[in-house]
Amino acid sequence: MEFQLNENLLLGAAAAATQIEGGDQNNNWYSWYRQGFVKDDSDPSVATDHYRRWREDLELMKNMGIQCYRMGLEWSRIEPEDGVFDEAVIARYREEIQALHEAGIPVLLTLHHFSNPMWLEDRGGFAVRDNITCFLRYVRKIVESVGDLVSEYITVNEPNVYAFNGFFQGIWPPGQKSFLEMSRVMTNMAAAHIEAYGLIRKTRLQMGYKDTRVGVANHLRVFAAKNPENPLHRFWASRTEQLFQGSLTRAMCLGRVSFPIGRHPSIVPGRYCDFHGVNYYTRSTVSGPADGVAQGCAVNDLGWEIYPEGIAEVCRKVYEMLPRPVYITENGTCDNQDRFRARFIAEHLKALCESGVPVERYYHWCFCDNWEWVEGNSARFGLVHVDYESQKRSVKRSGEFYRRVIEERGVSEALFREFCDTPCGGEDGE
Ligand code: BGC
Repeated sequence: MEFQLNENLLLGAAAAATQIEGGDQNNNWYSWYRQGFVKDDSDPSVATDHYRRWREDLELMKNMGIQCYRMGLEWSRIEPEDGVFDEAVIARYREEIQALHEAGIPVLLTLHHFSNPMWLEDRGGFAVRDNITCFLRYVRKIVESVGDLVSEYITVNEPNVYAFNGFFQGIWPPGQKSFLEMSRVMTNMAAAHIEAYGLIRKTRLQMGYKDTRVGVANHLRVFAAKNPENPLHRFWASRTEQLFQGSLTRAMCLGRVSFPIGRHPSIVPGRYCDFHGVNYYTRSTVSGPADGVAQGCAVNDLGWEIYPEGIAEVCRKVYEMLPRPVYITENGTCDNQDRFRARFIAEHLKALCESGVPVERYYHWCFCDNWEWVEGNSARFGLVHVDYESQKRSVKRSGEFYRRVIEERGVSEALFREFCDTPCGGEDGE
């Protein structure tokens, strides 16, 4: 394999506050951990201690040549009580963003990434329509505080996963199992995104900036019929796609309402994204109402199919819906021994560069190994290894590969041979 990166493509890394920072116990995920729902019982208020070690992480990023960084904010830290903002915390985030800025690493800032302050969670979070005003108040405060340093924002991360896991499957906080609640949350998050989209652009315009870009980090999967000849399998593949991501995507980007998204005064036809943020991980193989994984395919350490062409398929689809530049806001894999991550990166980047879609960013998920929600510390996705006992960081082989890809602006045969010997999923494809 051999390919060159497209001219406008920057390679960076992504992270989410709750998964790396540590030191905060005022959010719904800490409470979920305390209730015993994290598989290996690892504590999110420890994580990788990034809140204190951010300078060390930034040095590592610089050494690896990281070109852009998607970082998140912990809302519960910034607004520990309803309407009370902690200026010292905001100043601390500003310092980090400023340092990234000075290092020439532009920040894409995520405002909401699965985690809610407890005061908001206790009154229903995004399941309650009126709570959207709390989100908007927080968004305004952030843009007023760091808007001079940040031109690019993600309003919400993966509202479909948040709604599906927390309100339909019940495996994430708040642990509900109701289709109706899931649909309500999706609707409210689409509305929250649309309102935040306008608010961020307006606030920055008032500050004198015209270069604002706002989007969603949208979790998009490929849904394939298990047997493409079988009309029932085809029906369920398209139905699950619509329920999980299709309708929500159209609501957030175009303001169009279709089942399971309900009506909301803010969801009216329009254009509500300046880029398509795409989080891509896997393909689901469908034969009925529940999705599955195709037999015999290459999978990662969490059993997710590794399907590189899918990244191009989902990008084409959103671009056809609304022609906006694409940012891969997450792509990565759980490979605890770092056997095939380099190959995974090479194959996904190649598919992306050959997709014909204007892809401007690739944020690898993630920079350091981190606290992977209910999987805790047991699932490693990082380019950098973290020893959770000592918090020592060491760049993995895949991290070194990524540094070389950035430096060489592509993957040569020699680079591929040097780093990508193990097929995705491991030697035996398992
Ligand atoms: C989320 C990340 C998560 C990653 C890997 C995405 O769904 O946005 O927070 O760590 O997938 O599971």
